[in-house]
Amino acid sequence: MRQVFITRTGGPEVLKLREAPDLPPTKGAVRIRVKAAGVNFADILARKGLYADAPKLPAVVGYEVSGVVDAIGPEASQEWLGREVVAPTRFGGYADTVVAPVEQVFAKPASLTHAQAATIPVNYLTAWQLMVVMGALVKDETVLIHNAGGGVGLAAIDIGRRRGARLIGTASAGKHDFLKSRGLDAAIDYTQTDWLPEVMRLTNGRGVELILDPLGGGHWRKSCKALRPTGRLGMFGVSSATASRLPWPLNLASVAVGTPWFHPFSLMDANRGVFGVNLGHLWDERDKVRAWVDGLLAGATEGWVRPHVDRVFPLEAAGEAHAYIESRRNKGKVVLEP
Ligand SMILES: NC(=O)c1ccc[n+]([C@@H]2O[C@H](COP(=O)([O-])OP(=O)(O)OC[C@H]3O[C@@H](n4cnc5c(N)ncnc54)[C@H](OP(=O)(O)O)[C@@H]3O)[C@@H](O)[C@H]2O)c1
Repeated sequence: MRQVFITRTGGPEVLKLREAPDLPPTKGAVRIRVKAAGVNFADILARKGLYADAPKLPAVVGYEVSGVVDAIGPEASQEWLGREVVAPTRFGGYADTVVAPVEQVFAKPASLTHAQAATIPVNYLTAWQLMVVMGALVKDETVLIHNAGGGVGLAAIDIGRRRGARLIGTASAGKHDFLKSRGLDAAIDYTQTDWLPEVMRLTNGRGVELILDPLGGGHWRKSCKALRPTGRLGMFGVSSATASRLPWPLNLASVAVGTPWFHPFSLMDANRGVFGVNLGHLWDERDKVRAWVDGLLAGATEGWVRPHVDRVFPLEAAGEAHAYIESRRNKGKVVLEP
């Protein structure tokens, strides 16, 4: 099989295709012949040496695949053999084959292509945890979705619509028409406009009930100012660290400097909540996550989960896929196909 390795930290050129023997499935696991692998922002952070959870380099990243089960490990049910599946993977997705424990493997809805199915595990689970599980979003609340044009942003639009919420998003201007066609109620070009006064204008000075913020540092401090009483801030990334040229963990220092401290009394008096989400630290909560995935895959069959594939790159062009995302041209998900 072929795998795409991050050979060392650096630009997209450090991604190299290498031949390797097919992996035998381990106990309780199956081997999946990959038809589509999702590319995530975390993969780019890993390549740049900015991702604390990344495996030691050289390594094969890739947090999600869709494909066909082609081998069964000891103690895993033979029923999986030949089935079309989708699976979150703890790395290794940028490959022709990957091994995953059966508890992490799900039947692919027949209505989805493999590329569409590969958009679901990371983006939709993250948005679900942010909005439904921890954000407790209810009908008629207003949500501010930062980076609305990314994969998590598009998933958040689907889930927010499903909950009957009003959706405001920040994104560069070229993505606005598309995002509105997906159901975003108001789009703010944060590259040209200060988004905070605009959010306050759109909410008649009240602010919003839920904010999804993957930027980090001082951006979280600013987001807090847009929360109305009962508002919740969901923090789930430090994209702003990519602006720094310093290596991990020094690059986070600039982000840390601006990071707000949340005093319990201040939160209590302001009727506000703050919480963090890191999907990559939920591998030991399989039952919980399984129920979320089941609900989202059912949503795809019902039609309210609408996976959008912006662009498909061949596996060997993983570097081009990274460069494409880094140039901010993607509207939602980018997928690799072996
Ligand atoms: N904690 C978790 O479990 C978890 C899970 C998934 C993702 N995340 C985080 O969520 C964030 C978004 O992920 P995603 O998969 O939605 O990303 P994505 O699909 O790559 O989209 C990111 C979008 O954000 C904007 N952006 C802002 N700062 C950027 C930067 N420095 N470089 C490139 N684009 C930037 C761009 O849109 P504009 O054109 O509008 O600027 C871009 O299209 C990332 O920080 C990621 O690490 C966290």
